[in-house]
Amino acid sequence: MNDPLRIPVLVGSVRRGRHSIRVARFASDRLARAGVDAPLLDLAEINLPIMEERLHMRDDPPPGLAGFADSIRTADGVVVVSPEYHGSMPGVLKNALDYIRGEWRRKPVGIVTVSSGSFGGVLVHNHLQLLLLRVGALPVAGMPVSNVAASFGAEGEPLEKRYEANFGRFLKTLLWYGRVIGAGVDAERKVAENGAGE
Ligand SMILES: Cc1cc2nc3c(=O)[nH]c(=O)nc-3n(C[C@H](O)[C@H](O)[C@H](O)COP(=O)(O)O)c2cc1C
Repeated sequence: MNDPLRIPVLVGSVRRGRHSIRVARFASDRLARAGVDAPLLDLAEINLPIMEERLHMRDDPPPGLAGFADSIRTADGVVVVSPEYHGSMPGVLKNALDYIRGEWRRKPVGIVTVSSGSFGGVLVHNHLQLLLLRVGALPVAGMPVSNVAASFGAEGEPLEKRYEANFGRFLKTLLWYGRVIGAGVDAERKVAENGAGE
């Protein structure tokens, strides 16, 4: 049997009383129900300092950075949950993303955007999409969450029914890319190990 896919959920908000964590818990839970290993990659726990230099340029990486980079590099896909702050992503998320680049190569990513307003973070979706393309990732799915406090309970339970269906579609697309790209990576490795044509 194939190993389960591993798709961490990167939590892009560390704000006191943050609501995005609710949505991240929901995403992680629904991924787990689909048989995916989906740990939270919580920037509030990883607590990276302000980026002075990228990981590959440092021989003194701050605690947590190597583990964070490895989690992205070895993942079959990533879900990024980000609130919209001033029309873009929180500084803490941009800071974390600026540390690494190659780890994202060919990584299918689902972007979940969070807002207390009614537009669901459409502006941060666009910014994250461009940034992820820039580092070689493949933003393949998106789900906006509007009026977040009324849409999800503290433990991640959806209070608005439509999010089950919306996340179901998001998940289906992300898993499709995760499996197809994973199969491609495996095939490439076998060719490299055995030589073409064997
Ligand atoms: C610094 C800051 C800037 C914000 N800017 C926006 C914004 O541009 N658009 C928006 O829809 N909501 C904005 N909001 C409201 C957030 O959508 C709301 O606080 C949401 O709960 C953020 O997620 P969080 O609780 O995980 O921090 C902003 C909130 C903060 C703290």
